[in-house]
Amino acid sequence: MPATIVLGAQWGDEGKGRVTDHFAESSDYVVRYQGGNNAGHTIVVGDQKLALSLIPSGVLYPHCVPVIGSGCVVDPKVLIAEMEMVAGRGIDPSRLRISANAHLIMPYHRKLDAVMERYLGNNQIGTTKRGIGPAYTDKYSRTGIRVQDLYDPGIFRKKVETALDDKNRLLTRVYNQLPMDPGIIADEYLRYADRLLPHVADTSLLLWEALRADQRVLLEGAQGTLLDIDHGTYPFVTSSNPTAGGALVGAGIGPGEIDGVIGVAKAYISRVGTGPFPTELSDDLGNRMVELGGEFGTVTGRRRRCGWLDLVALRYAVRVNGITQLFVTKLDILSHFPKLQIAVAYEVDGEKFTDFPRQQSVLYHCRPVYEDLAGWNSDISAVRRYQDLPLAARAYLEFIEEHTGVKVGWVSVGPERHQLIGR
Ligand code: IMP
Repeated sequence: MPATIVLGAQWGDEGKGRVTDHFAESSDYVVRYQGGNNAGHTIVVGDQKLALSLIPSGVLYPHCVPVIGSGCVVDPKVLIAEMEMVAGRGIDPSRLRISANAHLIMPYHRKLDAVMERYLGNNQIGTTKRGIGPAYTDKYSRTGIRVQDLYDPGIFRKKVETALDDKNRLLTRVYNQLPMDPGIIADEYLRYADRLLPHVADTSLLLWEALRADQRVLLEGAQGTLLDIDHGTYPFVTSSNPTAGGALVGAGIGPGEIDGVIGVAKAYISRVGTGPFPTELSDDLGNRMVELGGEFGTVTGRRRRCGWLDLVALRYAVRVNGITQLFVTKLDILSHFPKLQIAVAYEVDGEKFTDFPRQQSVLYHCRPVYEDLAGWNSDISAVRRYQDLPLAARAYLEFIEEHTGVKVGWVSVGPERHQLIGR
């Protein structure tokens, strides 16, 4: 049976958690393929709100195996705390599998993330300060420490010492910080090893066997297309590939296994951190979106910047990911706005861009070209069938389909699991 990719089609925070939760119900495996605890997924089940940052949403279903793939970076302290948190809620985390090849986020990564941001001053990226960038930097400079290194305490200690030889110079001489002690760090991480190693596996092999045995695999992206290190608004991006190609690399499976790519897009758009954002609303309208949409980060609590839906960016996401269907979330939030706008192009110095501009400076200077659409002025949160949506709401969705060439297969109209319309 094939695998399906679910990914963010915007700047993250599209509501992928609830989408993954929806598809996890009919999946045997749910795989996180990149990122780390910079991500945050909030899932609402009855009166319980569950915030997950590393463990895939599939953990909520007893039939489902949650997998952290090799494309992820793992902060073991955070992961263990999260396993304990879900266990405390009566959810069994014992099925969790962690790729032996995933890289570890070390204390010096967190430290460097914080100080490097501080030194960037006005140019800072606005990272989550979870050590994500420095951990991926070490991975690509081939000085990273992997989950499998925890198997051998001798080698592990050596690798921490070698890493700190270099990092301590950086911390003390460049960033004016105190040096870190390799012994203390190794002791701490080796204590985590006992807790983590029973979950460590060759997750690529696990998925290969699952797919051969006709089991369903869901590949869950964190962040979003416009935060992709290759295809996003660099350098205001994360350090991994949330796009569809990253799903294959990060899970360790081939393209032939994929039967669909579901792009999750909010009915409007938001971003946290700095970087260009053509349709940002810096006025009362934007403030209302933040308040009505509860647009505050799951991980850092930061206020998200909000704006009208951007179809130039969405068409780009369809292209770079090969999105086969869209899942539009939070349509209910737009019920509060009597008039709606959607950006269909950008304009700068008389030049019109209907494709995402090759040169990023355009994103800073452009003026979005909007189409006005009618609002529906009614509560849609109890609607469960597409045909019961107000005409204007259907027109809004059909406008998206027309301009992206992709079907909107699902729409969410509230945070609860059942507040969902499938077509
Ligand atoms: P980092 O991933 O912590 O390095 O942060 C890099 C950029 O990605 C910053 O702009 C963050 O705000 C953003 N970012 C990271 N994770 C998420 C996420 O899960 N949702 C939205 N933005 C994120």
